[in-house]
Amino acid sequence: MRTRLPMPLPPARKQVDHGSIDHLELSRLGIDPSSILDFSSNIMPVEPSPLVWQAIQSVRWDAYPDRHCMELIAAIADLHQIPPDGILVGNGCCDLIHTVAGSVLQAGDLAMVVGPTFSEYARCSHLAGARVIEVPIRFPVRESSQLLHELGNSIEESKPQVVWLCNPNNPTGDYIESEKIFELANRYAKVKWIVDESYIDFVSRPSLLDLPQLNNVIVLRSMTKYYAMAGLRLGYAAMESELRDRWAEAQIPWQVNAIAQAAGVAAIESKPHYDHAMQSLALETLRLRSRLVDAGFAPNPTETGYFLLPVEDATSTRNKLIQKGILVRDCTSFGLRSHLRISVRSRLENERFIDAIGSRELRYHPSSELDADRSSHCES
Ligand SMILES: Cc1ncc(COP(=O)(O)O)c(C=O)c1O
Repeated sequence: MRTRLPMPLPPARKQVDHGSIDHLELSRLGIDPSSILDFSSNIMPVEPSPLVWQAIQSVRWDAYPDRHCMELIAAIADLHQIPPDGILVGNGCCDLIHTVAGSVLQAGDLAMVVGPTFSEYARCSHLAGARVIEVPIRFPVRESSQLLHELGNSIEESKPQVVWLCNPNNPTGDYIESEKIFELANRYAKVKWIVDESYIDFVSRPSLLDLPQLNNVIVLRSMTKYYAMAGLRLGYAAMESELRDRWAEAQIPWQVNAIAQAAGVAAIESKPHYDHAMQSLALETLRLRSRLVDAGFAPNPTETGYFLLPVEDATSTRNKLIQKGILVRDCTSFGLRSHLRISVRSRLENERFIDAIGSRELRYHPSSELDADRSSHCES
């Protein structure tokens, strides 16, 4: 296996690639967004619970929302059995990623990104004036202890002020045991650990929120994925209360709108509705992966509701699929130019995907060495 040296990332202050429908791209292609099946955003395929519908319909939007999000914070604290004074709510996890970078990073600091992973960690660190290195150890997926051992070595060599870790990871879908992350964060206590658990509910495995709070750890959660409210925008962060207060001081007032707050409270109250959908998603993920194997593909293992799919050329495959009404995530911007990321949808929709990707002009020829895919220059 190749040695995995930390790579300095060139400043990426501009917008970076993401999954989901890009309305500008579709208007240039002359494609109606409503004709597209989106397999590129990792969102639970579920209808809102009846409680969420009710909550949304009863919100008054002619008044300002509660700028402290008190009811929602109480619901989150109750859900995780953690103190409310360490919780901050944001307008989606991405909002929190950007504001936390501004709170914990100083110009000239070193931020370490455990990659390949979500591109906003590098981007917001650059925007905060930090230098950024990526430790490219999450692809191909390996055993957690080995991965964390390598990460420990990189921390000792490079001495970063901040480590960004996504668990489970986007785009690889692998999970690292939270107890092991806790141990490492405890060992490197001068480093601030920002652990993004936006997909943790998709794996039913322990979270850092189940363990004692460490002063140097900030846990980020999105509510847009598991509770399928990407358009509403909602996320939260948990940390020790002093840091939380400093960060809250810097937040834009009324950052979280009243509808998102009400929907968030109702979604937490109706968590069994989403847990039930998760059980179906887990089964459908197994089924879709096995259908792809039958069709001659070699989907990567995953612990979540999305997975990497090796193809010859991710960009051209994505572009051909979009003409067939199927949107997938081209992973070239993660440095994985021969991989697509596929988010599992309903059975019928997944069958449409299989038909499209199995069609003659998209026939797949397996590449011999997955690891060779990781390009040496990675932007996100
Ligand atoms: C790992 C990760 N964190 C955060 C986000 C953004 O979440 P939100 O929609 O809550 O801003 C994404 C979106 O794709 C993501 O993949």
